[in-house]
Amino acid sequence: MKKLWIAACYACCLHATAAFRPVGSTTLGQDPQTVNRLNGESFQQDPLVTLNGMLWDAILAIQYSSDLGYQYAVFWTADATNASIRHASVSRRDLRMSSLWETFTLSDYNQSDDDGHDVISLGISQGDGTLHIGFDQHDNDLRYRISKSGVATNPSVIEWTADIFGPTLDYLPGLEFLDKSVYFINITYPRFLNIPSNARPSGSDLLLELRVGRSGLGDDWLYTYTPNRGWNQVGRYLEGVNNNAYINGLDFDSHGLLHTTWTYRDYVNDTGQDVAVEAGPNGPENNHDMDYAFSHDLGTIWLNNWGQQIANTTAEEPVVPISAGITIFSIPKYGGILNQEAQTIDNEGRIHVLNRENTTGVERWYHYWRSTTAAWIRTPLPPSSELYSVNNITGTPTVIGKRGKLVVPPSGPSSGMLFAILPSNAPNSSALSVLASTAAGHFRDWLVLWEVPSGCVAEPLFDRTRLREDGVLSLYLVNGTEVQVADFEF
Ligand SMILES: *[C@@H]1O[C@H](CO)[C@@H](O)[C@H](O)[C@H]1NC(C)=O
Ligand SMILES: *[C@@H]1O[C@H](CO)[C@@H](O)[C@H](O)[C@H]1NC(C)=O
Ligand SMILES: *[C@@H]1O[C@H](CO)[C@@H](O)[C@H](O)[C@H]1NC(C)=O
Ligand SMILES: *[C@@H]1O[C@H](CO)[C@@H](O)[C@H](O)[C@H]1NC(C)=O
Ligand SMILES: *[C@@H]1O[C@H](CO)[C@@H](O)[C@H](O)[C@H]1NC(C)=O
Ligand SMILES: *[C@@H]1O[C@H](CO)[C@@H](O)[C@H](O)[C@H]1NC(C)=O
Ligand SMILES: *[C@@H]1O[C@H](CO)[C@@H](O)[C@H](O)[C@H]1NC(C)=O
Ligand SMILES: *[C@@H]1O[C@H](CO)[C@@H](O)[C@H](O)[C@H]1NC(C)=O
Ligand SMILES: *[C@@H]1O[C@H](CO)[C@@H](O)[C@H](O)[C@H]1NC(C)=O
Repeated sequence: MKKLWIAACYACCLHATAAFRPVGSTTLGQDPQTVNRLNGESFQQDPLVTLNGMLWDAILAIQYSSDLGYQYAVFWTADATNASIRHASVSRRDLRMSSLWETFTLSDYNQSDDDGHDVISLGISQGDGTLHIGFDQHDNDLRYRISKSGVATNPSVIEWTADIFGPTLDYLPGLEFLDKSVYFINITYPRFLNIPSNARPSGSDLLLELRVGRSGLGDDWLYTYTPNRGWNQVGRYLEGVNNNAYINGLDFDSHGLLHTTWTYRDYVNDTGQDVAVEAGPNGPENNHDMDYAFSHDLGTIWLNNWGQQIANTTAEEPVVPISAGITIFSIPKYGGILNQEAQTIDNEGRIHVLNRENTTGVERWYHYWRSTTAAWIRTPLPPSSELYSVNNITGTPTVIGKRGKLVVPPSGPSSGMLFAILPSNAPNSSALSVLASTAAGHFRDWLVLWEVPSGCVAEPLFDRTRLREDGVLSLYLVNGTEVQVADFEF
């Protein structure tokens, strides 16, 4: 672990004095000048992933007396000759030796829709060192690429060029026998998640979640990847019934349990209307409720808040909107709840959700969390009159404004704290504020830790893997012209 800054009087005045310091900012590349954001969307989940180099990199790591590895990043960048065409770029940097990114561009694939769904999501198998990307998806055929094995486990001997990736596939290797017109069609929102070692009974180490269908009408599916073997289907775990579930995220707790929270969006029949890029009448005003379920076995059996079984994907019994005990907070349509904002799990196994509501006539960010005794608490973030922020940050949320993130620092001096990374929703603002609250203060004692008046035009994302490995928070930010990675220590 890197040395973390220790607040001088941690016990008495806690985060009032906690340091949250920028320690460096680097540029990945130029952000395409599209109307809709292609880089930096909350549901993209992971555009930044860090992996310890294993094998002989582990030996080097000992010499350098550090457990840092390589950090990997993905972003779209415009074609040099035609800005209406974008290519996926993949970068890496050796965190031990340099802050310089090495980047290659997959110029054999042209991205051309100006559609904010069409992000790139990155996953890495720790077991075989393959990189996986899901990209350019909005209700279309699967677009997925996998790298050669060893790329991330033997980084110092790999030549970092586009040749490490195979072609764009419309299926998942290992599942060639599945009917593509049923399973790999109408795909949106692919997201990968590393499976922790205590949750790998089958040896799989990477999860893929995606939606089949469309806004208001869709199902969520899960797949697992086994190193050197390929993909396996877990099944349909969230079935929409004249609606679709929008997850805030998927997170493992320290015992290997998988938790998710979501909101439902009801379907409005929009036959004959142009809904190609944005959702049209199937917009977030049709979102309702805050739901929760968890799984002990990587997503096959699902339990409700009280541990009662509600789904079994092997028996093709998914969680459905009427499943018992899933609705934690009943939030009406037109209640201002947004889809896919943020969730995280703290070191005590409490799940925290960030979303927003307008149930009082004022749109505000809300923090929902599950206590260690399975009770849920729902608190709006303090109004701007009670929380001093140069960005007036908590006074800015709008129904479809830029989404924030929740971050739990690893064990150490900041243990017990919860950070909210909030992008201003004020018109034309690119301000960014980082707030913190504490378990001791029942997560009601929000204060601003750090903020800037500009620099964040998209939704801020972060590297969850690096945070766990070395305690550094790497934020993925778009400042209007560049895609950047800003590092913080605390
Ligand atoms: C640039 O790419 C777009 C999208 O593929 C295409 O429609 C357009 O004709 C291209 N422009 C030029 C000058 O080639
Ligand atoms: C991508 O766009 C370039 C430039 O317009 C074009 O030459 C190339 O054929 C396109 N590639 C594919 C795979 O469509
Ligand atoms: C895919 O979308 C088309 C067009 O909306 C629809 O007809 C078809 O049933 C969908 N298939 C699946 C598996 O979602
Ligand atoms: C939507 O309405 C059209 C006609 O207006 C009808 O044909 C179609 O079945 C409806 N779709 C759904 C999913 O209800
Ligand atoms: C899940 O369903 C499968 C297939 O029907 C069945 O064999 C298994 O026992 C079920 N598991 C549980 C925990 O209900
Ligand atoms: C919140 O709801 C009130 C009353 O319904 C409405 O006037 C206001 O515009 C809403 N705020 C936002 C940001 O949508
Ligand atoms: C802060 O936000 C609140 C709520 O939107 C608004 O009433 C107030 O005028 C804002 N203050 C400043 C200084 O912008
Ligand atoms: C936001 O920017 C647009 C385009 O530059 C401009 O037309 C609009 O007036 C701005 N809005 C505010 C509140 O500054
Ligand atoms: C983004 O950051 C770069 C590097 O600091 C700077 O040159 C550029 O002007 C910034 N863009 C905007 C829109 O602020």
